[in-house]
Amino acid sequence: MRRTADIRQWATDDVMWWRDCVFYQVYVRSFADSNGDGVGDLPGIRSRLGYLQLLGVDALWLTPFYRSPMVDHGYDVADPRDVDPVFGDLEDFDALVDDAHAHGLKVTIDLVQNHTSSAHRWFTEALQAPPGSPERDRYVFRDGRGVDGSDPPNNWTSMFGGSAWTRVADGQWYLHLFAPEQPDLNWANTEVHADLERTLRFWLDRGVDGFRIDVAHGMAKPSGLPDMPPEAAATGALAVPDIDDPRFDNDGVHDVHRMVRKVLDEYPGRVAVGEIWVLDDERFARYLRPDELHLGFNFRLVTTDFDAAALREAIERSLHTVAGLNTQPTWTLANHDVWRQVSRYDDGWRGVARARAMALVELALPGVIYLYNGEELGLPNVELPDSALRDPVWERSGHTERGRDGARVPLPWEGHRAPFGFSDAEDTWLPMPDDWAALTVEAQLEDPGSVLSLYRRGLDLRKTRTEFSGDELEWYGAPPGCFAFRRKGGGLICALNISNVPVPLPPGEVLLSSGPLEDDRLPEDTAVWLV
Ligand code: GLC
Repeated sequence: MRRTADIRQWATDDVMWWRDCVFYQVYVRSFADSNGDGVGDLPGIRSRLGYLQLLGVDALWLTPFYRSPMVDHGYDVADPRDVDPVFGDLEDFDALVDDAHAHGLKVTIDLVQNHTSSAHRWFTEALQAPPGSPERDRYVFRDGRGVDGSDPPNNWTSMFGGSAWTRVADGQWYLHLFAPEQPDLNWANTEVHADLERTLRFWLDRGVDGFRIDVAHGMAKPSGLPDMPPEAAATGALAVPDIDDPRFDNDGVHDVHRMVRKVLDEYPGRVAVGEIWVLDDERFARYLRPDELHLGFNFRLVTTDFDAAALREAIERSLHTVAGLNTQPTWTLANHDVWRQVSRYDDGWRGVARARAMALVELALPGVIYLYNGEELGLPNVELPDSALRDPVWERSGHTERGRDGARVPLPWEGHRAPFGFSDAEDTWLPMPDDWAALTVEAQLEDPGSVLSLYRRGLDLRKTRTEFSGDELEWYGAPPGCFAFRRKGGGLICALNISNVPVPLPPGEVLLSSGPLEDDRLPEDTAVWLV
């Protein structure tokens, strides 16, 4: 029998299936390895679909699995219309989509549009062609400054550290906002648009349910490429601060999103979500106009400390940003680019308690949720030895930034020793800590007190209980360091205590709590749902 919340969702607007959907981000390299090479792959994901169904998520987001030299682990794409052999082949992809659909899971995939790999055929052609040629015009080539052109064309820095320009043999420079192996495309070039359209249709015709658009605030560049304010340079951080940064969020980017939307509109029920690291609310909302992206990743929860007032503000601003638009708020606490929340909020048990509390806060909110693989197991960030680090940020920053590898360690599935059922290989692409035996799926599945059980229960309640309906929140008065809100439609109450004393519970019947309650009091670092 269909559950109440499902009826609301499916019967009225199937093309907007995503409106209160829980997406699960699969970092493909680290999810499950089927062929024993120490790297996760598409058949590995397929073999674990039963787990994802049991967990209770609705849709997947797969990180890039396209042909790539893997300098940025797939975000450097050499052929966007083929599968890299390390992940499988197109047949494996089709089988994964079919099986996921049979498990009731939608499949969305990552699209990297801001740049290609330097191993892309276009870039090889560009290097062989002279300055001013059509081959070079697909990228951003410029002459340098200074008498002999030996200074870069402007002062832009790469998000991974160092200059955003690299000089080629004939003296010109090309732009790369990320690694030098990720040259930026020129979005003023019509061939670049046409090729993206081809890529979109290629995957849509294979049955994908949508796309996550990488660096959706990138792509367009301002004419004249003016210098950036030096204070905008922040190595290793993807957040673009609230200062005018000519590298990102240029008005021309909206033409690209309009083009993408036009194609998607030919395929009803498909969705595009943009990775939009734009902190200005009004500018963020522009990406969600009716003829642009369906959804925008909002990173406010990720970037907010464990502080009741700051979290409340983040939630209110996120809701306000999308109010009145034909979209939904999105919420995420983690992804492959940021520290895992357990370690972000604190070390050890307290970090876990806080992450559990935030899981309930997030799952109580209206709109779309993005979970990152492993957060449902309460995985911490891993301190890897220098020799194991693979993120280009580590080299590019001159070993001053350790990068994002600590959040990308493979998932522990079962058993007592690394690699915990992730792979048959001892040597996984990033080493797994030996002390993860208690964190495996196997160890947590039947334990009612585990993080996994909390997520399963929370996801199930969110899907089945009518109290979770309604797009607006009402805030209650709460003791200092605490907050409580109520979903205006269904009436679910969520309360969080970040003070250092237990506080009285709001009235109502307890549905779920992130940790043990003290009679009728909510202890510190704990959240509760009441109806
Ligand atoms: C996005 C991805 C990140 C990648 C970057 C360059 O921010 O999430 O992992 O390094 O784009 O493609």
